[in-house]
Amino acid sequence: MKNSREQWGSRLGFILAASGSAVGLGNIWKYPHMAGQNGGAAFTVVYLLCILIVGLPILLGELAIGRKTQLSPVGAFNKLSNLSNWKWVGFLGVASAFVILSFYGVVGGWTLKYTLFALSGGFNSLSGSPDLSSQIFTEFIGSSFQPIFWQLIFMSFCMGIIIKGVKSGIEGGAKIMMPLILIILGLLVFKGLSLEGGKKGLEFLFKPKFSDLNPSSIVMALGHAFFTLSLGMGTMITYGSYLDEKQNLFTSAIWIILLDTFIAMLAGTAIFTIVFAMGADPSAGAGLIFVVLPTIFPQIGGGAIWGTLFFFILFMAALTSAISILEVITAYFIDEKGWSRNKATLLFGGIISIVGVFCSLSLGEFNIAALLDISFFDFLDELSSKYMLPIGGALTALFILSKWSVKTFLTELLIGVKELKLDKSLLNSILQILLIVSSLVVGLIIINELFDLLFNQSLQKLAGF
Ligand code: PHE
Repeated sequence: MKNSREQWGSRLGFILAASGSAVGLGNIWKYPHMAGQNGGAAFTVVYLLCILIVGLPILLGELAIGRKTQLSPVGAFNKLSNLSNWKWVGFLGVASAFVILSFYGVVGGWTLKYTLFALSGGFNSLSGSPDLSSQIFTEFIGSSFQPIFWQLIFMSFCMGIIIKGVKSGIEGGAKIMMPLILIILGLLVFKGLSLEGGKKGLEFLFKPKFSDLNPSSIVMALGHAFFTLSLGMGTMITYGSYLDEKQNLFTSAIWIILLDTFIAMLAGTAIFTIVFAMGADPSAGAGLIFVVLPTIFPQIGGGAIWGTLFFFILFMAALTSAISILEVITAYFIDEKGWSRNKATLLFGGIISIVGVFCSLSLGEFNIAALLDISFFDFLDELSSKYMLPIGGALTALFILSKWSVKTFLTELLIGVKELKLDKSLLNSILQILLIVSSLVVGLIIINELFDLLFNQSLQKLAGF
């Protein structure tokens, strides 16, 4: 028996759900320190270019494939390619979802633990002591019981929302969480800017320092454009498959990109104004959030509340992304295997949680990837963001170029567009060029990464940059 397919309740609901998927740890945790360390506004300009040139066409592609087929990735590629091997791009997406959620759920657990840690006033004892804070964080993530406990709670939230379905679960959750994230971030920005010396943080984040920009930061900006827009694994195909033909995919895609970028900028502003006002180290990199921030929140007025709010938005952002990852897997089993939503969610949410347990343990004593010389956690992170997502994205672009055809893609995109301001054949050429450029650029980057991995020598170094 075929399940009748759910649809989004409203256009706003869809945009909030899709931008909820996009806005996640990538925006609040990764972007600020990447931008801060790689040339400030210079990095941001490159990142925005990557989003427009590579991100936008692939985002439009995924949404159009989903809406056209009303199916999740495997079925969608199967249907549009008349049952050819392109379905493997869909399977790659399901596999990426599995890999990403395994470690994403672990970090999701940390955000929950730190929200309660801040709420209980625990940051007070860390005030002004980055070494102590670092020791506490490393001990926490490396211990066997605590992080797993929080990871399982985070995964239960995630499964709870997915079980409730597209409209009341995913959309309902995004309609509450996304506005809350925006409001609280706005308050944090306001607080940061009102602190003496906070404005120096703006300079750090936004003043262009082109001398700090190097080829590897450009590669980083491109990879991040994929991760932050949740592209390359069929998330947006799945979300697009719950859309009807009335929706204008162009404006929806622009909204998703604008919200995602805006929230990344707000997060960067909130973090660096507070860091600079308190004279903390802005170049702490990935440890900035879990190590440095807990030492400075107690120093600002009402620090326990601001700290709690900060980690709470990090938790909500992680959750709205995690559900979109689990939905890719659940939708596959509903669409292709005819399973019930409950069965698919509980079984695969459960299996991913178990893999996540090994991820978490790998940061302590028990690393099942020890042979590879990195933790299982880092292995899954690198595998997905450096290889699986970009490969999935480039293959999606190639699929449109070589199989589905740009013309049919454009016809699908134009459904729901009331008034077209550009000439249709011009638009066709622009899309074609953008898709070719995206697949080429991504292809080059993957070759570069593989080269680096295999021979410890990247092409850019060989070329003498
Ligand atoms: N976009 C999310 C973030 O920025 C991560 C994500 C990647 C979500 C891929 C879904 C799919 O954190």
